[in-house]
Amino acid sequence: MLRYKRHYYMATGIHAQAVAEEFLEHAKEEQEHADQIAERITQLGGALNFNPEGLLLRSHSEYVEGTSLVDMIREDLIAERIAIDSYSEIIRYLGDKDTTSRRMMEEILAKEEEHADDMVKLVEIFAENDDLKAGLKAAS
Ligand SMILES: [Fe+2]
Repeated sequence: MLRYKRHYYMATGIHAQAVAEEFLEHAKEEQEHADQIAERITQLGGALNFNPEGLLLRSHSEYVEGTSLVDMIREDLIAERIAIDSYSEIIRYLGDKDTTSRRMMEEILAKEEEHADDMVKLVEIFAENDDLKAGLKAAS
């Protein structure tokens, strides 16, 4: 959520507006996932760890700022793939032990797969632009 929020505010350049909107939508959805999971943890009698200290250590994906728009999209794609792996592992672990949690995780996983698809589409568009720019620079 924090990475997408940063990318939302830092996205600049031509076409950045559409990409920024996508970043913002993803940030909102990642927050929704966190809220759903927090609610489930408390339903199960668990205590939440929202301590900012150690947040990075507990995080599965990295917080990478990214310098250009295409860089940001690439970093987000990597993070989405890590999220997909993590949720898949959680789902396998849950198995039949807790079907309510498993169903919730499956819904979240489906959303993360959509996020990854969105980033693949964007990276295809912007990597092409980047290559084109690099080619023009090299030619001049
Ligand atoms: Fe995501």
